[in-house]
Amino acid sequence: MSEKMKVGIAGLGTVGATLAARLLSTPHSQLELTAVSARDRSRDRGFSTDGLDWHDDALRLAQADNVDIVVELIGGADGIAHDLVQAAINNGKHVVTANKALMATHGFSLAEQAEAKGVALAYEAAVAGGIPVIKVVREALKWNTITSIKGILNGTCNFILSEMKSKGAGFDETLKTAQDLGYAEADPGFDIDGVDAGQKLAILTALGFGLQPNFEVMSIQGITNVSDKDLAYAGHFNSVIRLVAICEKTRDGILQWVGPCLVPNDQALAHIEGVTNAVQIDGDMIDSIMLQGPGAGGAATASSVLSDLNDIACGNIQLVFAQPAASLGELSGNVGLSACPWYLRFSLVDQTGSMAKVTSILAEHSVSIEEVVQKGPDNGDSVRPVIFITHTVGSDNISRALDSLKASDVISDEVSIMPVLTSSPS
Ligand code: HSE
Repeated sequence: MSEKMKVGIAGLGTVGATLAARLLSTPHSQLELTAVSARDRSRDRGFSTDGLDWHDDALRLAQADNVDIVVELIGGADGIAHDLVQAAINNGKHVVTANKALMATHGFSLAEQAEAKGVALAYEAAVAGGIPVIKVVREALKWNTITSIKGILNGTCNFILSEMKSKGAGFDETLKTAQDLGYAEADPGFDIDGVDAGQKLAILTALGFGLQPNFEVMSIQGITNVSDKDLAYAGHFNSVIRLVAICEKTRDGILQWVGPCLVPNDQALAHIEGVTNAVQIDGDMIDSIMLQGPGAGGAATASSVLSDLNDIACGNIQLVFAQPAASLGELSGNVGLSACPWYLRFSLVDQTGSMAKVTSILAEHSVSIEEVVQKGPDNGDSVRPVIFITHTVGSDNISRALDSLKASDVISDEVSIMPVLTSSPS
């Protein structure tokens, strides 16, 4: 029987500790944990480090003779995580990482290096936690022409949006719960500002469309401007609000977009609650499939790391982005969202003729109205909230209409706008 492959783990946070404990408690016929590295040796992580090499400096794992596969769970696009992965590859070691920031930022150059050295660079855990979406897009759907990938890719944001809606909980307290449950990033700003979802999207775009990952060419908006009013008004339109990440082949090129969307209840993504993630992949042969599962958390993410480790141990070493790095295309610029319906909320000055003025401005920009709701008590306020759902219209028309509305004297400053997710590309 061949020797087991030796694993060294850098980073013993929620995911690393769960992974180490599982590797120690459930022996694998081809894998053996031999070394670990973390900052604080004294902390109780729920497993014994007896018999394991402990390295205070993670870079030592890249040189250790008793490590064949380096698992990088430190995080961050640059610094020690990047140094470690480069050093491990250069020393001919396989790498498994859960680091979406690293893969979204340096994925292309690391892929070139891994290919040159003939080692694996595997990253299933970097996207959508426990959902095996990388393997599905890279291997199972390799022969499809992908037309779009849409997903709920950030568990923390989905948890916040669904808890605020279902329990009426406040934003800050729900974020704190997400942190306590181990869902959020070390800096939760990456979650709520949409960056984490954007990094994952850049990786999916690369895989789906044969491109170098490019996190810079992307439109990103987080959930900090989604108010409890919007969450409540969404219900009037049989919809919910979700942070959605979209990459799509459009007439003008490849779109990468992350932002809050109004998702009608007749769409599967509307029923994704809590920390759950979901990815809908459309392709010429499959039509559409959706994967869903836990998007964050120690056990789910460790499960994806184990999947990569198992593949490497079994000799299933794939090209990093499904095709040779040299053949990956480049994203030159981002394109606007395809035409879709829009949700618009603003406060309207409560005086005769103001609604007529708004509809006339919308009409000037070819924005046609599907539904309108004017809510709020007639308690003498000088402004009343009004919410429109438009017919399908291009994003340029909507931004020009919004500029004109803001310049008019009939709406107040607070404006909320988001696309309505449609089931098929328009
Ligand atoms: N902070 C991430 C999330 C963890 O909430 O989805 C998984 O990348």
